[in-house]
Amino acid sequence: MASASESFSAPTTEKDIEILNLLELEDQARKVISKGPFGYISGGSGDELTLRENIAGFDDHMIVPRYLTGLDEPDISTELLGVKVDAPIFCPPMAAHGLAHVTAEAGSARGWGDGGCLYTMTTLSTLPIEEVVAASQKSPKWFQLYFAKDPGVNRELIARAKAAGATAIVFAVDLERPGNREADMRNNFHFPSSLGFPNVPGVRRGESLAEIMQVFKHGLDWDDLAFIREASGLPVIVKGLLSPADAREALDHGAAAIGVSNHGGRQLDNVPGSIVALPRIAEAVDGRIPIFLDGGVRRGVHVLEALALGASAVGVGRPTLYSLALGGWRGVHAMVEALKREFALAMKLSGVAKVSNIGPDLIEPRSPLRVLARGRF
Ligand SMILES: Cc1cc2nc3c(=O)[nH]c(=O)nc-3n(C[C@H](O)[C@H](O)[C@H](O)COP(=O)(O)O)c2cc1C
Repeated sequence: MASASESFSAPTTEKDIEILNLLELEDQARKVISKGPFGYISGGSGDELTLRENIAGFDDHMIVPRYLTGLDEPDISTELLGVKVDAPIFCPPMAAHGLAHVTAEAGSARGWGDGGCLYTMTTLSTLPIEEVVAASQKSPKWFQLYFAKDPGVNRELIARAKAAGATAIVFAVDLERPGNREADMRNNFHFPSSLGFPNVPGVRRGESLAEIMQVFKHGLDWDDLAFIREASGLPVIVKGLLSPADAREALDHGAAAIGVSNHGGRQLDNVPGSIVALPRIAEAVDGRIPIFLDGGVRRGVHVLEALALGASAVGVGRPTLYSLALGGWRGVHAMVEALKREFALAMKLSGVAKVSNIGPDLIEPRSPLRVLARGRF
């Protein structure tokens, strides 16, 4: 069957965008991104329970503010694995930014970098690693590895990412094959043949995600983490964990950090929202290594809540691609600044002076009856 994306052309606009809140970006972006690519970006798997739960789960806790603290302006800067950043928010790895804008990953990385925040490059980017870095010298970078069947490819990718300045490797463990993504099936979505994946030998143009994933190892195990640690000599973040038992395994196997994530609700459906999974993982990790969370983070108060429940920083996925589509690097920069402003306001209004002061005393669980009344169960 012919690909529904063959007539594809990506948005080209570069401009500042007005952002009232990050949630509204999705409807605006729907008008400028082609149907197949928009379905790929916005969709989740199955009944999209997890996709919704990622955002709805933030309702399960309330913030309990403190007053008369003498606080004027909070300091929202922090450090992620030894790297100073302007805020505890970062761009998580996402494939194929070229679907959202002609400047692709170069635009997203520049937008996040100009906002003083960290950007995660991916194996499946539509630009070479070196071009993404050249376009965004200001931002610190991590590199997310999809683990190839050929160890030589893994070594080469890690070496290139390291040479380009990546300070950590993100080992994504939750996508050996794509989840049950019905939007992609309905749209017969294949990546447009005008976009390549230049970092990975063996990936052909015009393929579906399932076809592309044939290049990568199926049956990953903890030895693969050891391989990445040894080959890179860099801290390795194990991304995609939801179970406290896996978090303990990751600790035992030398992970430098844990990424609590369900891949934006795109892999197994009906798993916990990231923010719902976080407390049990934080309990298991007990402060020994940092925890990063992504999934459904759209508000300054979401950032505050995730940090109060034990995360060190949070990734903001789809709003990056939506703001890229709407305004190129300037759109992404506007989005990052909007979220920084909301987070700073949330800190100010709850009486917290600096990021390291955000702790469990700042929040309390909403009563299960109230959660029930909101239709979560
Ligand atoms: C279009 C798209 C592509 C993605 N590609 C990758 C990827 O290549 N590697 C990866 O580890 N995660 C990938 N993810 C998952 C994100 O890293 C992140 O877990 C998710 O987007 C967070 O949820 P949010 O979009 O609700 O913020 C992708 C997500 C989206 C939306």
